[in-house]
Amino acid sequence: MKEKLEQILEKAMRELNHAFAIDEVDKLDILRVGFLGKKGELTSVLKQMGGLSAEERPVVGKLANDVREQIETKLSEVSAELKAQKVRKAMEDEKIDVTLPGKKRAIGRLHPLTAVMNEIEEIFLGMGFEVASGPEVEYVYYNFDALNSPPDHPARDITDTFYITDDILLRCHTSTVQVRVMETQKPPIRIISPGRVYRSDAVDATHSPIFHQIEGLYIDKGVTMSDLAGTLDELMKRLYGGDCKIRLRPHHFPFTEPSAEVDVMCFKCAGQGCSMCKQEGYIELLGAGMVHPKVLKNCGIDPEVYSGFAFGMGLDRVVMRRYGITDLRLLYENDVRFLGQF
Ligand code: PHE
Repeated sequence: MKEKLEQILEKAMRELNHAFAIDEVDKLDILRVGFLGKKGELTSVLKQMGGLSAEERPVVGKLANDVREQIETKLSEVSAELKAQKVRKAMEDEKIDVTLPGKKRAIGRLHPLTAVMNEIEEIFLGMGFEVASGPEVEYVYYNFDALNSPPDHPARDITDTFYITDDILLRCHTSTVQVRVMETQKPPIRIISPGRVYRSDAVDATHSPIFHQIEGLYIDKGVTMSDLAGTLDELMKRLYGGDCKIRLRPHHFPFTEPSAEVDVMCFKCAGQGCSMCKQEGYIELLGAGMVHPKVLKNCGIDPEVYSGFAFGMGLDRVVMRRYGITDLRLLYENDVRFLGQF
């Protein structure tokens, strides 16, 4: 029996001295059961101890215990080594190189249209104006009728304006907000109203079916055309610098009388004439005028008591002039390589 026990020990050591792969913990369990389990080799030897003499039994018993202890010690050593190897491998695999350059988080920025819109709002807020808004899907009444637009005005044509029904359309200018504000507020009224407008135009470098306007409206007692000129002059100087000049040219709008188109000095040639301003020296930025008495009446304001000016400015053009952008489409393609420059 002694020999049998020594053989078991020798066999166990041989098998346990084998190199185990990290994921062979299961194999270790199989060996444990094989040697030490209820039906294991050592147990089956011990079962035969009954046949031994009284002198032999304690000697063999002690030897059997020694063998068990040695196998158990070896098993836990191997198992500890496997665990340690596993941890080392995980550390190796999950190693973080803290010297690697970090991943840059791209920070967005305001679209130039939004940035300039905010800037213009700030300038007008400083002059005592408030910001008003109106719907983009609008009644024909607010877009044309209330603004004294004659029934045969070319802008009413479906080739110019997007109609949704006979009396609902996509507003073609922000002047709609003038009417909505005057209907609900008593003078003095000082508002600007930035927003999107729609026209049935084919896309090219200077046209887009969607663009932006900023409407301005100032109604009070004794407001004159010089208030209009002074307000716009101040705006342009704040936007483009102190030596920027504006120029008013006579024009016609159904909702203002007198009316003007307002040009701002070309930033590229400072009025000399160049390719940017088509040799004009000035670039047209807005329509303006004194609110027509009929429009005031349509909105319940007495034109004998009150007067006021209104203007509608093309925001896209202001932005283009500001940054020297020569193609309007760039503002709508939303290419981050372009937008990232502002
Ligand atoms: N609504 C006009 C346009 O879109 C601009 C304008 C606004 C003109 C207010 C006069 C007064 O062209």
